[in-house]
Amino acid sequence: MSLLLANKIAVVTGGSRGIGEGIVRSLAAAGSRVYFTYNSNAEKAEALASELTSETVPVTAVKANVTSADEVAALVSRVIEEAKSLDILVNNAGITKDGLLMRMSETDWDDVLNTNLKGVFLCSKAVLRPMMSQRRGRIINIGSIVGLSGNAGQANYAASKAGLVGFTRSLAKEVASRNILVNCVAPGYVLTDMTGKLTEEQRKTFEEHIPLKRSGTVEEIASVVGFLASDAASYITGQVINIDGGLAL
Ligand SMILES: NC(=O)c1ccc[n+]([C@@H]2O[C@H](COP(=O)([O-])OP(=O)(O)OC[C@H]3O[C@@H](n4cnc5c(N)ncnc54)[C@H](O)[C@@H]3O)[C@@H](O)[C@H]2O)c1
Repeated sequence: MSLLLANKIAVVTGGSRGIGEGIVRSLAAAGSRVYFTYNSNAEKAEALASELTSETVPVTAVKANVTSADEVAALVSRVIEEAKSLDILVNNAGITKDGLLMRMSETDWDDVLNTNLKGVFLCSKAVLRPMMSQRRGRIINIGSIVGLSGNAGQANYAASKAGLVGFTRSLAKEVASRNILVNCVAPGYVLTDMTGKLTEEQRKTFEEHIPLKRSGTVEEIASVVGFLASDAASYITGQVINIDGGLAL
């Protein structure tokens, strides 16, 4: 079997569960050596790293908060020191703190913007130097269709994901001459811890509005990320790809 990402070095933020875990599994299965971050539940993160390392390629779990410039810098230095290059960054870490704007606290606004947008700025900035000197790189941001359509009760989250679209397009223009491609995937509704707070009835009602009549899976997001990280996507940059079963139509 040919491995699409053989010998590539990838960093995935928030990779210990949900969509991030799916992306880590998919990149490792394609032959990429993966470093992924987690910010809680070290046991689960280490278990994932050892499972994949024994089955595929070396996979390393690193405790790092994407909102800390120091922790992000330490992560990137470690990857360069150990693996000697950094080819793929997947900015996946994200949070929600939902509420109607009338009642939204400043802390809930700041926390969501800090993780979802500033975290992407810090991680992307940190990988640019090694990617520029290699004259190749892929940055893939995990946005959301909510960043395009908006959603009542998610003004902070939607603003962060809409900001990611402008960030993706601007950075794509800045670094294209160095062969660094920057794209965004925008999932619709995927069953993970983030969306798991809905009741069965709420989930069914929500799924009725999706043209494909079902939620997406983490694998359906991860496969597009794998494609964007591969040579097959060498002429795609600055794009936002919706993976939403038609929800945003
Ligand atoms: N699940 C969905 O339906 C859906 C839809 C659209 C977009 N997304 C996006 O996909 C991404 C993953 O979401 P998920 O559903 O897997 O959520 P999740 O809550 O299951 O996982 C989020 C991950 O981000 C990590 N994280 C959070 N804050 C962090 C920080 N400060 N530093 C480092 N890591 C941090 C968490 O530890 C966790 O691993 C997010 O960016 C989310 O906005 C999810």
